[in-house]
This record gives sequence, structure tokens and C-alpha cells, in this order.
Amino acid sequence: MQIRMDKFLADAGFGTRSEVKKKLKTETVMVDGVRIRDAAFRFDPEKQQVTVNGKAVSFQLLSYYMLNKPKGVVSATKDPMEKTVVDLVPDGRRRDLFPVGRLDKDTEGLLIITNDGQLSHRLLSPKHHVKKEYLVLYRGALSPEAEEMLRTGVDIGDEKPTLPAELTLLSPATCILDVQNSDETENIDIHLCLIGITEGRYHEIKRMFAAVGSEVISLKRVSMGKLRLDPSLLPGESRQLTPEELMLLNEG
Ligand code: URA
Repeated sequence: MQIRMDKFLADAGFGTRSEVKKKLKTETVMVDGVRIRDAAFRFDPEKQQVTVNGKAVSFQLLSYYMLNKPKGVVSATKDPMEKTVVDLVPDGRRRDLFPVGRLDKDTEGLLIITNDGQLSHRLLSPKHHVKKEYLVLYRGALSPEAEEMLRTGVDIGDEKPTLPAELTLLSPATCILDVQNSDETENIDIHLCLIGITEGRYHEIKRMFAAVGSEVISLKRVSMGKLRLDPSLLPGESRQLTPEELMLLNEG
């Protein structure tokens, strides 16, 4: 399989394609002992040997998993005490896999596990404004003013207010989240909504709801860009992305 040199080096972690293009001029990149300066040079990384400044660069096959993260698992690659999201995918012992961003330990839903640093960077970079949608079960009805604040941007104690969010109030009957330790009386004043945000600040949604006087009880991510969580995946289950899903994610 032939691949362009700039894509090969970018996938191997040498920077973005434009950074790699510059590096080809300044660093010594060789294929089978011949210096390559052209980013568009095509070769077969499974059969040909690439070196950068004398060091061999091995061919990295890119992997993409969709995980329905369960509650109670940490979004990390490894943890001395706890099970991590990477432990939940079939290739979990591979050291190159990592989650694209973090969900809180008590958040469930869509998480991509990959070794594609470029894709991860693009999906998470604040510059790209990739929308992430969450189902939110919360206590404390939102007043019209609170709804407006969530939609336009709310002060959560950071330097800047949050960016505008898309908010859709849903009927509790459509609720598909687990309410832990719930009982009849606790269920009073519990509501469900769908919110789409384009940032990924620490505890962002919990802090947004707290800022308008409500409290998040349960959070589930259902989409990232154009990619939706496969509803047939139970919490803790994962599978490889299909080529069509990967395209959707790249269109993000
Ligand atoms: N916002 C939160 O508060 N927690 C998450 O896990 C994701 C978004």
C-alpha cells in the first residue's frame, strides 16, 4: 500500500502535514537510504525502510474504537489503582492507544479510543469548534432566563464565559439514563435535556448547570461532531469504527 510521505510522518507523530513539509527540508528523511525532500513522495511503508536523522520510523496502523464508556471508569491510558477506558477495548494492552479527550468518571457515553494524534488534536482543538452533545438529567427546573444563559454563554468562574450552547428540553419519558439511588420523592423536580457544546472545559456542563441554579445528576455523551453513539453498544462495550463513521468523524 502506497502512502504519501507527509501523511506517513504526520501519522507517526512528527507534527501536522504542513509542519512535516518544513521538516523534510531541515531534517534528513530517507527511504531505503535515499534522501526525500518532497512531501508528496509516495512509497510502501510495509516494504520500505524510513529513517529520520538516522533513526528508523516504524509503520503505524491507525486504529479507531467507539466505546460506550460506563460510569465508574477513568478516562486515562493507565492508572495504578483503577480500570481505565483503554482497558475496555479489545487491544487495550497496546501502549499507543488513548482516549480522545476526557469524560468525568461518573459520565457515560461516546468516547473514541485511537492512536491517531492528528484526529484527536482536531476534534479537541478549541479552534475547530467540534460539537459534542450530551443528555443531561438535572435537578431543578430551568427558568427561561437560565435557559437563555445556557444558550448564550454563562460565567462558570473561568476567565471567559462559556461559548453559546444548543439546548433542547426533553420530556422525562425519553430518559435513558440511570438514576442511581433514586426513590419516588427524589425524582420530583428532575428534568432531561440535550445540550450541544463546542468546548471541553473541566466539568463544563456540571458547572454550567450549577451556575444557573440546577444540579446535574447524570450525564451521557451521545455524539461528537457528526458521529453518534451506536445505541446497540451497552455501557462498557466497544467496537471498531466503520469506514463511514470514520469519514463522519473526519468531517466533524
Ligand atoms: N461536562 C462535564 O461536566 N463532565 C463531562 O464528563 C463532560 C462534560
